Amino acid sequence: MIRHIIALISGALTVAAIVYMAKLDIELEKLKKIEEIIEKSKLEVPITKTAQSVQQQQKEEESEEEKQLKMLKEKAGNISAFEVSPLYRRNCASCHGVNGNGAVGPKLIGKSKDEILQALKDFKSGKRKNYVMYGLLSNMKEEDLISLAEEISQFDEKLQKATNK
Ligand code: HEC
Repeated sequence: MIRHIIALISGALTVAAIVYMAKLDIELEKLKKIEEIIEKSKLEVPITKTAQSVQQQQKEEESEEEKQLKMLKEKAGNISAFEVSPLYRRNCASCHGVNGNGAVGPKLIGKSKDEILQALKDFKSGKRKNYVMYGLLSNMKEEDLISLAEEISQFDEKLQKATNK
């Protein structure tokens, strides 16, 4: 009787072992498939990468075109009717125009030397509040302000001479 029971138990264990092994096999199969998928996705990565780099290249080309356009615009903007001092060109022309005809900043042509000098002094002292002009003039010497005021007050005359040629 005991022998029968042992045989039964061992038989059951064998069946259980077989089922367990079969399950393991299935799991292994799944793992393999997962691995395959991972391998495939690794292959796909370089493809998407090249797509990205193509996009990047296009962007770079665009910005290259933009740069050239900017340069052209700057050139066009810098064609001045008459010569201005480096001091004016470097510090003021970007906002007031190469010849003082105004852009972001107001037109300066036609203002008297005193008017301009007073405006510059007031900006510098903060009496006339303008953050941009204040920041720009805070490091400038009085004599620079005077020479700028003098130069700008002559723009009108210079422009007329230049256009009447
Ligand atoms: C970043 C732009 C910018 C730059 C650079 C700049 N300005 Fe101005 N400027 C302005 C603006 C904006 C105003 C108007 C401010 C206001 O009326 O409060 C102004 C006003 C002035 C005025 C008064 C004009 C008026 O109608 O009352 C004078 C004069 C002047 N600027 C001279 C200069 C000089 C000289 C330089 C170079 C040293 C210079 N600016 C550089 C933007 C600029």
